[in-house]
Amino acid sequence: MKKIKIESTLEVYDTMDELPKEIILLLQKAIEAREKAYAPYSNFNVGAALVLDNGEIITGNNQENASYPSGLCAERTAIYYAGSQFPDAKIVRMAISATSKNKPTLSPIPPCGACRQAIAEYEVKQETPIEIYFMGESGKVAKSDSLANLLPFVFEKSVL
Ligand code: THU
Repeated sequence: MKKIKIESTLEVYDTMDELPKEIILLLQKAIEAREKAYAPYSNFNVGAALVLDNGEIITGNNQENASYPSGLCAERTAIYYAGSQFPDAKIVRMAISATSKNKPTLSPIPPCGACRQAIAEYEVKQETPIEIYFMGESGKVAKSDSLANLLPFVFEKSVL
């Protein structure tokens, strides 16, 4: 028997103003996208903005449904749009912001497990890391250098 220890490293910034201008702009796009989310059931609005290596910026937000499982998270709305419209482009980074009408969200809110798996697919496909920045409504921003850092033991195509 051996034990495997896995470590993840995040950078945490007190405010987005500590980040470079292009990252602030991407986070602002995520915040704008969040405002347009369709989340009447959870009242939890999420926005995602991603930048491609061709300079395109794609945004998405969560889309809910009266049949709850039929909805889709912001991150997957954005990444599937990018994959469908720009299949040959690489995703450089993604910014995510989440807010709730029920309670304050002042610490960074990471993407859910299903979204991590979806983003991982594109990181494996393009063979370059995708930087992930995530925050709540305002305040601290966390940065991960890659999706892999957020999803140890990823399930990916090499096992199929
Ligand atoms: N949601 C996202 O959009 N992204 C996540 O990573 C976690 C959850 C959405 C799904 C649902 O519309 C609402 O937030 C509450 O779970």
